[in-house]
Amino acid sequence: MKKLIEDIPYLLVLASLLSILKSSNATDTISTTQILRDGDTLVSSGGFFELGFFSPGDSKNRYVGIWYKNIPGKTVVWVANKEIPVTSISGILKIIEPGILVLLNDTNNIIWSSKMTRVAQTPIVQLLDSGNLVLREVNDNDQENFLWQSFDYLGNTFLPNMNCGWNYATGIESYLSSWKSGEDPAPGNFTLHLDPTGYPQIFIKRGNTTTCRIGNWNGVRFSGATDVRGKRSLYGLIIMNKNKTYYREDVLDRLVISRITLSQNGVMQRWRWVVVGTREWVNFQILPVDICDTYKFCGAYSSCNVTKSPACACLSSFVPKDPKGWIVENWSNGCIRRTPLNCKSDVFLKYSGIKLPDSRYSWFNESMMLKECEVACLKNCSCMAYTQLDISTERGGCLFWYGDLIDMRDLPVDGQDIYTRMAPSELCKNISKLAVDSKGKRRKILISSLTSLIGVVLLGLSSMLYFWKREKNDPNGKTEGSSSKDIELPLFDLSTISKATNNFSINNKLGQGGYGLVYKGTLEDGQDIAVKRLSETSMQGLDEFKNEVMCIAKLQHRNLVKLLRCYIQGEEKMLVYEYMPNKSLDFILFDKTKSRLLDWPKRFHIINGVARGLMYLHQDSRMRIIHRDLKASNILLDTNMNPRISDFGLARSFGGNEIEAKTGRVVGTQGYMSPEYVIDGLFSLKSDVFSFGVLVLEIAWILYKEERSQELVDTCPDDSQYVNEVLRSIHVGLLCVQKYPGDRPNMSSVVFMLGNEGVLPEAKQPGFFTERDVFPAESSTSTSAANLSCKMTITLPEGR
Ligand SMILES: *[C@@H]1O[C@H](CO)[C@@H](O)[C@H](O)[C@H]1NC(C)=O
Ligand SMILES: *[C@@H]1O[C@H](CO)[C@@H](O)[C@H](O)[C@H]1NC(C)=O
Ligand SMILES: *[C@@H]1O[C@H](CO)[C@@H](O)[C@H](O)[C@H]1NC(C)=O
Ligand SMILES: *[C@@H]1O[C@H](CO)[C@@H](O)[C@H](O)[C@H]1NC(C)=O
Ligand SMILES: *[C@@H]1O[C@H](CO)[C@@H](O)[C@H](O)[C@H]1NC(C)=O
Ligand SMILES: *[C@@H]1O[C@H](CO)[C@@H](O)[C@H](O)[C@H]1NC(C)=O
Ligand SMILES: *[C@@H]1O[C@H](CO)[C@@H](O)[C@H](O)[C@H]1NC(C)=O
Ligand SMILES: *[C@@H]1O[C@H](CO)[C@@H](O)[C@H](O)[C@H]1NC(C)=O
Ligand SMILES: *[C@@H]1O[C@H](CO)[C@@H](O)[C@H](O)[C@H]1NC(C)=O
Repeated sequence: MKKLIEDIPYLLVLASLLSILKSSNATDTISTTQILRDGDTLVSSGGFFELGFFSPGDSKNRYVGIWYKNIPGKTVVWVANKEIPVTSISGILKIIEPGILVLLNDTNNIIWSSKMTRVAQTPIVQLLDSGNLVLREVNDNDQENFLWQSFDYLGNTFLPNMNCGWNYATGIESYLSSWKSGEDPAPGNFTLHLDPTGYPQIFIKRGNTTTCRIGNWNGVRFSGATDVRGKRSLYGLIIMNKNKTYYREDVLDRLVISRITLSQNGVMQRWRWVVVGTREWVNFQILPVDICDTYKFCGAYSSCNVTKSPACACLSSFVPKDPKGWIVENWSNGCIRRTPLNCKSDVFLKYSGIKLPDSRYSWFNESMMLKECEVACLKNCSCMAYTQLDISTERGGCLFWYGDLIDMRDLPVDGQDIYTRMAPSELCKNISKLAVDSKGKRRKILISSLTSLIGVVLLGLSSMLYFWKREKNDPNGKTEGSSSKDIELPLFDLSTISKATNNFSINNKLGQGGYGLVYKGTLEDGQDIAVKRLSETSMQGLDEFKNEVMCIAKLQHRNLVKLLRCYIQGEEKMLVYEYMPNKSLDFILFDKTKSRLLDWPKRFHIINGVARGLMYLHQDSRMRIIHRDLKASNILLDTNMNPRISDFGLARSFGGNEIEAKTGRVVGTQGYMSPEYVIDGLFSLKSDVFSFGVLVLEIAWILYKEERSQELVDTCPDDSQYVNEVLRSIHVGLLCVQKYPGDRPNMSSVVFMLGNEGVLPEAKQPGFFTERDVFPAESSTSTSAANLSCKMTITLPEGR
């Protein structure tokens, strides 16, 4: 008993000890020789709950119920004789042979009894501190062996440790039923169930009709519920095995008094007793919240948002099944795919921030990783979508849907991602609402004008290449601006690195950068690393080396590569980075087969990531940093193809307002360098913008170059989001490579322009046509300018 006392809030213990002393007719068990009369109470051992006779509201009827002993106002959580009340105050609760708890009215008729499971020897009735009324053998405290327990027979209240769901062995379903009224605890019109079909979910029903689907438990909350803010003090779990499927909640914080109720009009409410201050029941969750929680309100493949008009909208790539009905706001037919699936080569589009669809026709695997879900789903043509089953852990399993996706709503903050199967051509047809309307015309003009400009730019690039070769030999430059602050990174010893890289084995070589070789290594703890070993003859001196280390060590951004360690000993200098399994962008971009796998959404993701990383370097980090060598081979790709800018050996940090500097030595990579840098050695933030522009053009243009332009034109109408994004990126790229640095946008404008619709400024002449410029004959056969066939008309954009 002592143990149980420890289990309850100390405030309540104190209070209840006092009240136990006061009330003389309170007991803690009912045995075969004891009876409980109206007026007597049965108190749980810790004094938390109390059982006795009560009359709800203004009713004169007497019911046997359980309530919180020390919460004023008698909050009843369970009622025995819900349907048949005792009409006087002479009811009696007692145990009768062969082990049943019965309620007798004043004519000694049994008006309620516990179910009998087996003949009992010495039964007693006890109220536990969880609120569970149990009938058990006096010597058998094992809860699996209770002869009967009230927790198997729910009313309108769900308490922590109760089970809601199915016991297959006994065939009993535990579910909540609303009261008929505040004065009548008999089952009302609504019930709340755990439906174990597919993946277990909670439903509210009116008779046989589902009114609201609260959804499945995702490890943190029900998928259709907003998260309960603040400290998480409850822990919900689904228990599934051959014998049962239950939902249960455990209280983590013992001071938390929480309950869920189902109201007479079918609303699930979560309450918490606030012990300090106001001392009242606070309602901190209500479902349904609004009309969007009405089951199937928007039909299939459609999502509901009350603040929008109309409230229902097809997911992108879906269209109303019955367009006429849709217009008159009859959404019941939902939406269908614009392009039918073809099974084998389908792709998955991610929708974010939604309440997951009905999972009755689903299948799950609790041990898979999200990455594996796609592969598994693709294998079965009837698999329509997948998501991560449990969002509280990384290895959260997969949930797969086999059927139409119904009953979704927008949940911008607490919604989840769902990956929906789509015909491959839909990847480029993802139309955002904004893109559909009036802008068609402008875009056509853009197509022709931009494509023409690109040809010019790439021609320019190759001429720049030529130009570079002539100007390159200028060795008397000296590094400048290096400060010698302490390096705060943890150092590695050589043996660790040697061991990790197999003694710099040639098999571990990843590549050759400007300043030395890069090796792959694996530390003893299994972490993969990339070791950049700077060659002794490298151009990068100690200052530059320290500079890079300092810069990177201070920078933290998800689009910048992370420096883990460094090693300096005499001539030997090494930098240890996170290992990027997908290597650098140039590996993919300039490889014919690999680049085919890089579809536009991935490319656009990379462009955006690099833009954000660069914006951070330029504006958001504590220092102002110019990268000075931005190019495809310095963009590394992590497992999820997120771009990470690397190689800060040439970066310079500026203090204060110093945004431009002059250098005697021009370093960098041909083709990516701005004219003012190459010619006058002037570098500024805008030189990086120039390099970024070239990079964007490479990423976007090569898509055309690989004859995908035809595919693009074939499958995507002009108004598609895909074409729109490509053209927009190209336009932004062109703005970045304008001749005069002052004309080029800064990186925050670039990020904005990439991410938003809206008219872009007209691009002026790109920065290759200086007086000293030459168009060498080789340009037509050199790398990028070749094969640039442009099928569209060429005109320069007109001013708006
Ligand atoms: C007691 O219950 C029996 C059976 O339900 C009923 O017939 C009888 O009228 C009740 N007695 C009183 C006083 O309500
Ligand atoms: C239950 O539904 C019936 C029929 O629709 C209605 O008459 C009754 O008032 C409802 N009861 C409650 C408690 O809402
Ligand atoms: C609800 O469904 C069950 C089983 O399908 C059926 O027996 C029962 O009559 C239905 N009730 C109503 C009110 O439709
Ligand atoms: C299911 O119930 C049977 C019989 O009571 C029992 O032997 C078995 O261990 C139970 N299985 C699980 C997974 O609880
Ligand atoms: C909505 O459409 C469905 C199916 O076409 C039809 O059965 C239903 O009556 C319509 N509802 C209204 C309110 O028109
Ligand atoms: C479609 O494009 C819009 C706008 O870019 C985006 O918000 C939405 O998430 C995309 N949808 C999918 C399924 O990728
Ligand atoms: C779940 O996935 C894991 C990992 O892929 C696999 O080993 C296991 O067999 C799967 N379980 C079921 C029931 O398919
Ligand atoms: C695909 O999944 C469904 C639902 O789980 C299953 O009935 C069907 O047999 C599966 N088909 C194949 C080819 O595995
Ligand atoms: C509904 O849509 C609006 C506008 O798109 C959005 O701002 C809002 O967050 C959405 N609200 C909900 C509850 O989904």
